[in-house]
Amino acid sequence: MKVLVVGAGGREHALVWKIKQSPLVTSIFVAPGNPGTSALATNVPIKVDDLDGLAKFATDERIDLTVVGPEGPLVLGITDEFTRRGLKCWGPSKAAAQLEGSKVAMKEFLRRHNIPTASFKVFARAADAHAYLDDVGAPIVIKCDGLAAGKGVTVARTVEEAHLAVTRMMEQHEFGAAAGRQIVIEEVLKGEEISVFALCDGRNAVMLDYVQDHKQVNDGDEGPNTGGMGAFTPVPGLVRPRDEDEIVRRILVPTMSGCVHEGRPYVGLLYMGIMITDAGPKVIEYNVRFGDPECQALLPRLKTDLVYLLLACLNGTLESKDVDWLPETSVCVTLASGGYPGKFPVDLPISGLDQVRDATVFHAGTKSGKEGAVLTAGGRVLSVVGIGRDLDEARARAYAACDQIRFDGKHCRRDIGKRREARKK
Ligand code: AMP
Ligand code: GLY
Repeated sequence: MKVLVVGAGGREHALVWKIKQSPLVTSIFVAPGNPGTSALATNVPIKVDDLDGLAKFATDERIDLTVVGPEGPLVLGITDEFTRRGLKCWGPSKAAAQLEGSKVAMKEFLRRHNIPTASFKVFARAADAHAYLDDVGAPIVIKCDGLAAGKGVTVARTVEEAHLAVTRMMEQHEFGAAAGRQIVIEEVLKGEEISVFALCDGRNAVMLDYVQDHKQVNDGDEGPNTGGMGAFTPVPGLVRPRDEDEIVRRILVPTMSGCVHEGRPYVGLLYMGIMITDAGPKVIEYNVRFGDPECQALLPRLKTDLVYLLLACLNGTLESKDVDWLPETSVCVTLASGGYPGKFPVDLPISGLDQVRDATVFHAGTKSGKEGAVLTAGGRVLSVVGIGRDLDEARARAYAACDQIRFDGKHCRRDIGKRREARKK
């Protein structure tokens, strides 16, 4: 089989790495890919939002399966476009991808299907939102409707912060006019957050092992939110059997059947961002693709052939498929550029990649320089994954590799996998 992977980050490098292990696969192309994927596959310079260019390439190259990494092309309708042209594309349709593409649509979906989530109100006028904030006070959560590269959510501790978020989203259009036309204001959920992934074939779903992300930039969950500073899996002791039962019965099943009833059956990977609260698990958000960096932590533990599972999603045969995992623990640490998640420099040389032994390094924001050099090209630069018999061994391997890799301004969290322990202390 010839496979095309769409995307350019650490998640896509991990997908390519795992897909390459499949005996079903003869060649892999990545659009546009990064220096990491170029070592395993053929990078082709087509942007992820160039749906026509991607479909033409897939047709000309007779690609058997296209795997979409990021949400952008899914929300634009890449799956519909490929299907229209008789091409196999793994990922939800445009209609199903609205679960991530619009926070308002997502919250209304949750309400329609009685799925537990934070209580909320939708606002289309800034003045109404400000008045509401004066009424309810803080802490409170403000979310802009459209995609905002992970920056469209403010968990405001004070009313001033909340007002500022409304102003930036609705009046200053910081995330674009369309994304800020409507906003959601919702209650703050308290508890432990967990990323729950399910492979879906429209009717059936198979849950993958739990992963925990670390969103804030600094140790101890301090500082602003990022795309994810690290992840680990499995996550023992967090999701009790009672919680798991509720996740399946009150969240996953009604999500799948809700999509079917609304004529947009969900095919692909469903990411449920869930808060385990005192009142049980509640949905914070859906994403319509693998988490990044959760994917980099998870795939090295997957024993089952990923391509076989992706095809089962498309063929509607997931019900009969088992998913096997290595028992080991996996820890993924993000190495970020100085200044991230704010402004950061790029084009800085990265050294030490060839000295890494006991870890796997996935490229996230890198590019090729002269004479084989690898340069920084994004906020999250590398995903460094250590596998071990337990959390300590996995962490030791990941952090030893992190220390071998050098670039100016490099920073990472030092407490990946240890946040709950640290908080208990
Ligand atoms: P989202 O873009 O919806 O994933 O939100 C980004 C992050 O903000 C989440 O991963 C949570 O850590 C946090 N967050 C979002 N909504 C809430 C909420 N209602 N209560 C507490 N934290 C939240
Ligand atoms: N790591 C969070 C996300 O992928 O949305």
